[in-house]
Amino acid sequence: MHTIVQYQELVSAHFNSLIVEKEPKNLYEPIQYILGLGGKRMRPVLTLMTAEIFDCAYEKAIPAATAVEVFHNFSLIHDDIMDDAPLRRGNQTVHEKWDLNTGILSGDAMLILAYQFFESYEPTIFQKLAKLFSKTALEVCEGQQYDVDFETREDVTIPEYLKMIEYKTAVLVGAAMKMGAIVAETSNKNADLIYDFGLNLGIAFQLQDDYLDAFGNPETFGKQVGGDIIENKKTYLYLKALEFGKEEEKEQLLHLFSIQPNDNSNKIDSVKEVFISSSAATATQEAIKEYTMKAFETLEKMDIATDKKDVLRAFGKKLMNRNV
Ligand code: IPE
Ligand code: IPE
Ligand code: MG
Ligand code: MG
Ligand code: MG
Repeated sequence: MHTIVQYQELVSAHFNSLIVEKEPKNLYEPIQYILGLGGKRMRPVLTLMTAEIFDCAYEKAIPAATAVEVFHNFSLIHDDIMDDAPLRRGNQTVHEKWDLNTGILSGDAMLILAYQFFESYEPTIFQKLAKLFSKTALEVCEGQQYDVDFETREDVTIPEYLKMIEYKTAVLVGAAMKMGAIVAETSNKNADLIYDFGLNLGIAFQLQDDYLDAFGNPETFGKQVGGDIIENKKTYLYLKALEFGKEEEKEQLLHLFSIQPNDNSNKIDSVKEVFISSSAATATQEAIKEYTMKAFETLEKMDIATDKKDVLRAFGKKLMNRNV
């Protein structure tokens, strides 16, 4: 087995080797740009890691890992348009640096490119990968639509929120891992268990993404802090604040989420205060732990060596302690 850092280096080296200058520039440059900004590369690392966990050389999983990361980066370009986000990985978002149309079309091209990476697999594996990928990509679209629909709804429930983040984020983490299992040709039971592991880790991951969106350090976070508050996102923080808050805190929050001030800094500060005073911030931290532990429980049912389970647990713990 390689270490997490080694996998990250392998993935980075691979993405650097993919860089080619192609025409038309306005289609391909934004693709190189977003992929070149890096990011944590968590999903491709998980694909390679899973292949090795099921006794397959990681090299065989590189095309699948690449497909997942290219798809993820495509979804970020379109997500930043939908969320009106100015910053990504500490740099301008694609639609800010170029324009809206560029973001739409370069994103579309990336979705196609992602599929092309599966073409290097033999028919049986290709079919399984493509089938999982299509199902997952459609679920991501569904999750993203719920996310946007919830911005203007005042009656979003916690189960609805959990379904939304499962779809927009967690299914891709599960699929990234299951693709490693498919490439390794392990049993269906193992493939399904590793999917569940990834799914629960993905839920914890999105809960933490929401937490960091409010409480991350603007110097290092790489995205606009408070972006979810500006966009009136119905995050776990928000829903728990409405559940736990005192009457006046609830009223204040509902009011703040009904206004669109020119300067958002007061809105962001006030909302964050309510998130803390209502103990929604603590509840979110607890939920992150809970879903990470749920992921770890699925490992118990899996028939793999202890040191491999340790690697997966180390990955989950590392995610819990992240600040970007
Ligand atoms: C951001 O994903 C989008 C979410 C699903 C929360 P990451 O936090 O993995 O972004 P990068 O790839 O590391 O930049
Ligand atoms: C993004 O969720 C999920 C997808 C990109 C599909 P967010 O909108 O919370 O992701 P960030 O915070 O912009 O990275
Ligand atoms: Mg976003
Ligand atoms: Mg979004
Ligand atoms: Mg976010």
